[in-house]
Amino acid sequence: MKDRVAIVCGASKGMGKAIAKEFAKNGAKVVLVARNEENLLKTMQEITAENVQRFDKGITNRVLAIPGDVRNKDDIKRVIKETVDEFGAIHILVNNAGGPPAGYFEDFKDDDWYNAFNLTFMSVVRFIREVAPYMKNQKYGRIINITSMSVKQPIDNLILSNTMRLAVVGLAKTLATQWAKYGITINNIAPGPIYTERIKELSWSIAEKKGITYEEALKSWIKEVPAERFGEPEEVAYLASFIASERAGYINGTTIQIDGGTIKFVL
Ligand SMILES: NC(=O)c1ccc[n+]([C@@H]2O[C@H](COP(=O)([O-])OP(=O)(O)OC[C@H]3O[C@@H](n4cnc5c(N)ncnc54)[C@H](OP(=O)(O)O)[C@@H]3O)[C@@H](O)[C@H]2O)c1
Repeated sequence: MKDRVAIVCGASKGMGKAIAKEFAKNGAKVVLVARNEENLLKTMQEITAENVQRFDKGITNRVLAIPGDVRNKDDIKRVIKETVDEFGAIHILVNNAGGPPAGYFEDFKDDDWYNAFNLTFMSVVRFIREVAPYMKNQKYGRIINITSMSVKQPIDNLILSNTMRLAVVGLAKTLATQWAKYGITINNIAPGPIYTERIKELSWSIAEKKGITYEEALKSWIKEVPAERFGEPEEVAYLASFIASERAGYINGTTIQIDGGTIKFVL
């Protein structure tokens, strides 16, 4: 990944942050995107500190933090412009953000559905639209969408996520077949329970809904996982790093589970 330019969305926490760190460690120039500027700058400083020796040796390995909301099309255009102004290219895009709120069908009105559509699906459409000209022109690109194991097996109280993420998979599969000729791959990562802020929030929500404690809610997740533990964000980052590398050029249009064996389907 040396000198490849990677935009990582949702990069200030959880899986996005772990992916950004791993990309930087592997020599990429990394652009961090998230809404909260303070967290984003902290992440930028952490990554710089981790790589300081290599920066000192003159390895062209830099990090840029661009605060932005993936729901906002002007923010997306600004991220692309600032990335190209700074680094002159875009080779890798990781679409990622917070998930839509937990809940059941009866909990949501039209606005909730439109908001989830904008956050989880339109953000991916718009980012891909903006990076496509650069990737097609240079005949190289790696697009990775962070989705969820729910695209293979719906999760009971996550109807918005279960629904919107399947649209991302349909989009990715279609573009993967159409743009492979440009050297662009588009793949989805489908995580099971990974120990991040998101899993903590969902556990609080499950605890409240089911009238159980937070600890019991955490245990109820782990009970479903043959590995008997949560995944670590770094484990997702190792997978993302491989898919984003040149070596993964023949992996295209796939949805790869990383769930400790949680999904029971054979194929
Ligand atoms: N953790 C799991 O077990 C798990 C499993 C399957 C799928 N997922 C999905 O994978 C994704 C990442 O999960 P995570 O656990 O790593 O989440 P996380 O720890 O909550 O981190 C989310 C990151 O996205 C950023 N973000 C949120 N909304 C954003 C927006 N509108 N625009 C730009 N950045 C935004 C957050 O920063 P700001 O708030 O500052 O913007 C943060 O950096 C989520 O969609 C989640 O639903 C998670």
